[in-house]
Amino acid sequence: MPARTGPIVVLTGAGISKESGLDTFRCAGGIWSQVSLEDVATPEGFARDPDRVQAFYNDRRRGLQAQDIRPNAAHEALARLERDWPDEVLLVTQNIDDLHERAGSRRLLHMHGELRKVRCTSCEAVHAWDGDLGAADACLACGTAGRMRPHVVWFGEIPLGMERIADALDRCALFMAVGTSGTVYPAAGFVAEVEQIGRAHTVELNMEAGHSASLFREVQQGPATRLVPAYVDRLLAEGIPG
Ligand code: APR
Repeated sequence: MPARTGPIVVLTGAGISKESGLDTFRCAGGIWSQVSLEDVATPEGFARDPDRVQAFYNDRRRGLQAQDIRPNAAHEALARLERDWPDEVLLVTQNIDDLHERAGSRRLLHMHGELRKVRCTSCEAVHAWDGDLGAADACLACGTAGRMRPHVVWFGEIPLGMERIADALDRCALFMAVGTSGTVYPAAGFVAEVEQIGRAHTVELNMEAGHSASLFREVQQGPATRLVPAYVDRLLAEGIPG
């Protein structure tokens, strides 16, 4: 039984899926260097040119279903942590891919939505959706055509699950951030919230220091597939540091 246990909150970003073959947003050659986020990740962009936005997410949805895109050792280690840790583990991801689910994580919250879901802007129903989404598609619940959008949180919109996240951050004994640049709020502010409470250990596992790295009690730099399995092993053997 590890020495110091307690509830854990893990926050992941695009970096955890990089070694599975999915692009990040702000690394060299990342998604926002290929396309303007104003055009494809804002409500204004969708209102201006819905077909362009649908095509952007259709491409990414197809890419996610490519044969060679699979969870990596970091996703799998977090699923193992949820399974073997004696207290609750909440995995909050900014990612819209499904690699955490495919690795076996269950207590998972997609605060920026999910690529494999769509939402009807007429009745707000959310549907699993694996094919391309187009203007002619009708809502499976209310039947309205032409009102479906990706179930993804765009800039300027309210992230999902914020009450549940705030409660978990208040109670956690460990906050771990993996593969996120710490540039987009509210996720970028989670470590400051936890440090203000002052009870939890905080650790960032990232290829390079994120924008909030100085707020973490512990920072490790390197690839997630090396850092995360080792950190999970250490937690299960020795408990939470500090
Ligand atoms: N292992 C660990 N970290 C990595 C790896 C890797 N193999 N490769 C890249 N990283 C790190 C980078 O150093 C960077 O800090 O992952 C981070 C990726 O940062 P971003 O591209 O900004 O992605 P993210 O932090 O998830 O972006 C947050 O911004 O555009 C919005 O909604 C989008 O959810 C996204 C949010």
